[in-house]
Amino acid sequence: MPVICVANSKGGTGKTTVSLNLIHHLEPDFIIDLDIHKGLSDLNRLGGQLDIHRTRDTGQLLSWLQNEEKLIFVDTGGFDSTLNRIALGQSDFILTPTGEDPSDQLRLLDFDETMAAVSDEVNENLVAHVLLNRVHHSRRSFDDFDELIGGLKHMVRLPNVIPQSAALPKAAFNGSAVKSGTIAAHFSKLAKEIKKKL
Ligand SMILES: Nc1ncnc2c1ncn2[C@@H]1O[C@H](COP(=O)(O)OP(=O)(O)O)[C@@H](O)[C@H]1O
Ligand SMILES: [Mg+2]
Repeated sequence: MPVICVANSKGGTGKTTVSLNLIHHLEPDFIIDLDIHKGLSDLNRLGGQLDIHRTRDTGQLLSWLQNEEKLIFVDTGGFDSTLNRIALGQSDFILTPTGEDPSDQLRLLDFDETMAAVSDEVNENLVAHVLLNRVHHSRRSFDDFDELIGGLKHMVRLPNVIPQSAALPKAAFNGSAVKSGTIAAHFSKLAKEIKKKL
């Protein structure tokens, strides 16, 4: 079974929020939180029901990721690390949330370099699927963003866009995904898109 990894070497781009809400639809067998700041584990402690695994041991992580029978979901921390690189190298689908600020988007250049290095290590052309997150409702065109992504070797943009929504942090305060309404519909569609590409 595949490994889905949510990664971006910049913090605060929505990795953990997107993870919490995608997990609700994807129902993975095994969830790993690689963030040293324990983002997903901390939210889950606020009332969530997820069984979340954590390790700092590279051998342990590899053995989890190589379990062929399970759908594995990994939320990584917003930094570069050996553990994050191992997860990237073992992934079947890499999801990279990014904000719409230029500062967020320019940091994708750094992450593209990490992706290039890991691709070399595993001798595979890894691709990160970039997800625009926290997008203002009035935004219509993503041409500038597409131009940036078009110049990056290891990134493609997903057609899905997650809007800025107060419902997301509100639900996260209870360790929960948003389970109804337009935001839940966005994540249900995203989960289907990911499953299609696995
Ligand atoms: N689509 C969104 N709408 C509103 N707030 C969001 C959205 N995505 C993330 N956030 C908020 O942004 C902050 C950072 O998100 P988080 O998921 O912790 O990022 P990361 O895991 O990449 O560090 C959190 O306070 C979260 O609630
Ligand atoms: Mg996080």
